[in-house]
Amino acid sequence: MKLFLDTASAKEIRTMWELGILDGVTTNPSLVAKEGRRFDDVLREICAIGVPSVSAEVVATETDGMVAEGRRLRAIHPSIYVKVPMTPAGLRATKILAGEGTRVNVTLVFSANQALLAAKVGAAYVSPFIGRLDDQSEVGIDLIRDIVTIYRNYRFSTEVLVASVRHPVHVLEAAQIGADIATMPYAVMEKLVQHPLTEIGLARFLKDWEKVPKG
Ligand code: G3P
Repeated sequence: MKLFLDTASAKEIRTMWELGILDGVTTNPSLVAKEGRRFDDVLREICAIGVPSVSAEVVATETDGMVAEGRRLRAIHPSIYVKVPMTPAGLRATKILAGEGTRVNVTLVFSANQALLAAKVGAAYVSPFIGRLDDQSEVGIDLIRDIVTIYRNYRFSTEVLVASVRHPVHVLEAAQIGADIATMPYAVMEKLVQHPLTEIGLARFLKDWEKVPKG
């Protein structure tokens, strides 16, 4: 399973990249806005870290604009995946961009049928937002189960990228279902690394080690 950071912070990306556990990065307009810097500068800095997959979202809402933006973003760096919203214009843009060899991440997916359509037009990734479904009293993780089943039924090569992940149990459940990727905020990835019993156990081992005769 691939683990992505959902951030536009180069500092956060560098930290997890150095741990060796990071496979990619997803950004969106809200995350880029937090950085207070030009989009292209942020993207170039992230790509230079070496992360092999960096999703960058278009902001045009019509097909032509999405395609033009997608081509421009893709030209910035070979690691860029173009993120396109799940709308009729987005489906048309995905078909065109994917046909040219651009890897497209179809985002803002909230139903299994939307995910089916994204796969049909050649998306490289589909991004269902599970936390936002939970916020609406729907069980977000159930959507992942449905999408994984459908993609397996028809052997679609589109990878399921679980987004809007809010806590480690989301990651655990996505892994149990067999989702390809989970993208998460830095704070969630940090929690995957840590366990209080690891820290307590290590402190005890080090304390006991002091009693071992040396030299
Ligand atoms: O990148 C999109 C998605 O992960 C956003 O998550 O927490 O704003 O619903 P959230």
